[in-house]
Amino acid sequence: MATSLYDVVIFSILLYFLTMAKSGSFIKSLFRTKKVEDIIRESEDNNKRLKRVLGPFDLFMLGIGGIIGAGIFALIGTAVAGDSLRDGAGPALMVSILITAIACLFCGLCYAEFASTVPISGSAYTYAYASLGELVAWIIGWDLLLEYAVGNIAVAVSWSGYFVEFLKTFSIDFPKYLSVDWVTAAKHPEITASAPKIFGIPVVFNLPAVFIVVFLTVILTLGVKISSRFNITMVFIKLAVLFFFIIIGFFFINPENYRPFSPNGFRGIQTGAAIIFFAFIGFDAVSTAAEETKNPKRDLPVGILGSLGFATLVYLLVTFVLTGMIPSKNLNTAEPLSVAMRVVNMNWAAGIVAFGSIVAHTAVLLVFQLGQPRIFFSMARDGLLPSSFAKVHPQFKTPYIATIVAGAFVACGAAISSLEEMADLCNIGTLAAFIVVCMSVLILRYKNPQRQFAFKTPFVPFVPIMGMLFCFYLILGLPKLSYLRFGLWLLFGVILYVAFGFRKSNLRKEEISAG
Ligand code: ALA
Repeated sequence: MATSLYDVVIFSILLYFLTMAKSGSFIKSLFRTKKVEDIIRESEDNNKRLKRVLGPFDLFMLGIGGIIGAGIFALIGTAVAGDSLRDGAGPALMVSILITAIACLFCGLCYAEFASTVPISGSAYTYAYASLGELVAWIIGWDLLLEYAVGNIAVAVSWSGYFVEFLKTFSIDFPKYLSVDWVTAAKHPEITASAPKIFGIPVVFNLPAVFIVVFLTVILTLGVKISSRFNITMVFIKLAVLFFFIIIGFFFINPENYRPFSPNGFRGIQTGAAIIFFAFIGFDAVSTAAEETKNPKRDLPVGILGSLGFATLVYLLVTFVLTGMIPSKNLNTAEPLSVAMRVVNMNWAAGIVAFGSIVAHTAVLLVFQLGQPRIFFSMARDGLLPSSFAKVHPQFKTPYIATIVAGAFVACGAAISSLEEMADLCNIGTLAAFIVVCMSVLILRYKNPQRQFAFKTPFVPFVPIMGMLFCFYLILGLPKLSYLRFGLWLLFGVILYVAFGFRKSNLRKEEISAG
């Protein structure tokens, strides 16, 4: 039954494409591109304009806010020790981090070129529209939902886990049925049994995850400058906590724990790199604030590359200390940094680390919740999403409808989803977007070699090609199930494009009116 339904869908799409293809230059119109000059001119329309208030420091902090979070505080444990499905990297996670950092550097250079030359809030979506055409741009816009919204569902779920643990230090026991996802509840009948029922259906959902998303959505609706100040405060706290961990932990390093350095050889290092990639996602989110940046040409490369370099250094230090403190095989836990502190009998320090982790998660949520609506905003401005998504609040100057819709989507997802599945989906979606950005640099350089770039990616085509190859290498380290989910997600996106985006596209309307 499932297969036949699938066949019908595929057949209908093909039929639609064939019918349209017969009706003229359909295929050509799928690859219609927007001129960079037009994109910039449209964004300068006063009614559809965001407020330019952010400087280089705000952007650097936005990058750090988005990068350092669940990855280094939670997923590092799985990356070092592995889990039931995969073998971890052991102390050689330091090598994995270097591999991932190099991959992100190649991609970050491409992002810096685009973000400074086309300073528009749509990020990879806008870059693809200018180089690869409308269909790919739509697919990337749809794919970026995986990075920002689905990634945020993962972080909100992880936030909730830490929050509930933290409450326990004050002897507050949060009800289980109000802090777990549906899959976990299904595996534990005692949780559903303890839940109140409405019409016989147990009320089970993740209340803290919903709460934090709603809270941040309100802040983001009120203004990007308030959000940036809130972010800067949180970044200082999380960095202070991580340096506290590095300094205290350094005194408990036992060199024996570094042996064997790479227990699972290159396979473990690759898996570690693919898992820890989640910890690097976020530097690209700086590009979604391009339209709110005072001097995009200078400040965006500083924000993107500066935050990436700084985070790499912090990650290497944390991994060096963590894997030196306790044997790698003991690190398969959701709170590895706190656990390491408890193992060396520093319980008070474990509490501080847990608090820092909650703050770090909150900052990531804020930056990603800022990014998603700005991509919706750009797509709506191009006619590929309903026009209400492009509305700017008259007083707060924020894309408030897009912000509220994105908040509602993440809050609903976070209420019922599990962390690992969402993190894998986020990784594959982000890697696909990075590949497209590298490809777009190559194409735009080829199409228009005379163009003046505010920031130029060095060593083209070497850097974009290496960026793509590294991203493919990281995709190979992800579980196979995530490929299938990603494929289905893209298929659904193409159906939506055919049903809505293709017909409503502003570029198409302009082409039609121009005859
Ligand atoms: N890089 C972000 C984190 O680790 C997604 O939470």
